Amino acid sequence: MSNGRSFYITTPIYYPSDVPHIGHGYTTVAVDALARWHRQAGDDTWMLTGTDEHGQKMLRAAVANGVTPQEWVDRLVSESWFPLLEELNVANDDFIRTTQERHETNVQTFFQALYDRGYIYAGEYEALYCVGCEEFKPEAEIIDGTGPFEGLKVCAIHSKPLELLQEKNYFFKLSEFTEPLLALYRDNPDFIRPEHARNEVISFVKQGLKDLSISRSTFDWGIRVPWDESHVIYVWVDALLNYATAVGYGSDQETFDRRWPGYHVVGKDILRFHAVIWPALLMAAGLEVPRGVYAHGWLLVGGEKMSKSKLTGIAPSEITSVFGSDAYRFYFLSAIAFGQDGSFSWEDLAARYQAELANGFGNLASRTTAMITKYFEGIVPEPGAYEDRDLAIQETVATAASDADAAIDRFRPDEAIDAIWRIVDALNGYITDNEPWALAKDESRRARLGTVLYTAAEGLRALAVLLAPIMPIATQKLWESLAIAGRLQDQPIREAGTWGVLSPGTTINALAPLFPRVEQPV
Ligand code: MSP
Repeated sequence: MSNGRSFYITTPIYYPSDVPHIGHGYTTVAVDALARWHRQAGDDTWMLTGTDEHGQKMLRAAVANGVTPQEWVDRLVSESWFPLLEELNVANDDFIRTTQERHETNVQTFFQALYDRGYIYAGEYEALYCVGCEEFKPEAEIIDGTGPFEGLKVCAIHSKPLELLQEKNYFFKLSEFTEPLLALYRDNPDFIRPEHARNEVISFVKQGLKDLSISRSTFDWGIRVPWDESHVIYVWVDALLNYATAVGYGSDQETFDRRWPGYHVVGKDILRFHAVIWPALLMAAGLEVPRGVYAHGWLLVGGEKMSKSKLTGIAPSEITSVFGSDAYRFYFLSAIAFGQDGSFSWEDLAARYQAELANGFGNLASRTTAMITKYFEGIVPEPGAYEDRDLAIQETVATAASDADAAIDRFRPDEAIDAIWRIVDALNGYITDNEPWALAKDESRRARLGTVLYTAAEGLRALAVLLAPIMPIATQKLWESLAIAGRLQDQPIREAGTWGVLSPGTTINALAPLFPRVEQPV
């Protein structure tokens, strides 16, 4: 049912030096929800995620654990990173690992092409490196250490000492791309979103770019530079190329032409790599730049960026085992404006679960289906003549559906959910105002009762379709209860607001509670 619109979207590829936390889960569910929406709209969708397995960080984690780096990443990926996708109910189309042959070979092809085109040269380098960031740090991100690191220079992000590295490196002529990048940002205002992220990158690039060291020779856990076996390719260049190698760069031109270019969703911590270095590398290779880069904010716990290395890390399973994956997805995507930082707290999660999911959406679904069962023996009634207040619901549904689609186009799942929630709130108010339980006591109001319950049930149908990308499990239960022909994931989401899909006369099925009561976490 493809409409020919290609939509390729990626998460960052994560470092499997450690186990995943809710920050990684956040990016992943956001990308999954966007991909599911586009897939359900009939766009030719491809969602990629994966792991970034080379570099010094990985090597050190392996050494510290007494295994080879390959053993270390194999273990972490199979025991922790694949299961994350299951836990969060992610429907990725592919998972790339940078240690795969399909990646390594084509990274070398790309690297050789840059060299042949004259964008790589050899030079001497001495600078402060942060292994946590896998990056030579710019002045602005170097601070004086305190406490045990008194007298040392530390990384502003990781608060750990930097290492002075001095070696012969290959360099990429990034400095030649200052003007072409500024032109790209100017001509394509949506290339970097949101606006504040765009402004930040533009002012950074306006200061002028320096050439970038893109090889390392003091360790060998990486992809070899094709013409110089004593060097491995800088892990960030290796990593960025996953977006191209995974869709056929160097191996399958047809697939590459079909998918590329795509959209990258990243945390703001790695925006510059994606919005500066990555398009420059692509331009140098003569390839198309990405369609866009969207930077989201950080999850804060206790006011700090949540991170495993600072011991504020929370595993996604701590949340999903209590509230379920739908609630995880809903909570992070609705409670945080996509692009801004957001604070996580158990209290906020539990409160929203109760108010919005259990009492809001869940209760609407259970009382509507229960009343159809009770008053119409489980058969969806025929609506009678619509009154203004019924037409107002139809209007709300239509507007909310198109507003939600527009929000998804802007990469704002939070605003899409806000729009969809207008339907939940409107229907709950509609049921309270129309008092079907009172209509049911008066035989002469039976037609009106049918109209009210049809309106509520058809509104639920629209909610199931619109919320399927966000909460696939609950909406599937609701869909089965409404007993509409066809699979939920095949319902064209851009037409979700068209009224009258649910056929009167359909026998509905009992609905299991969508959001059961949970024991409050301690
Ligand atoms: N391997 C690189 C990315 C290479 S992409 C070509 C990397 N990996 S990472 O494991 O550190 O993951 C970083 C990403 O995880 C962030 O960009 C963000 O998407 C997500 N997050 C990690 N911590 C986070 C928060 N505290 N809050 C929100 N997102 C977080 O960098």
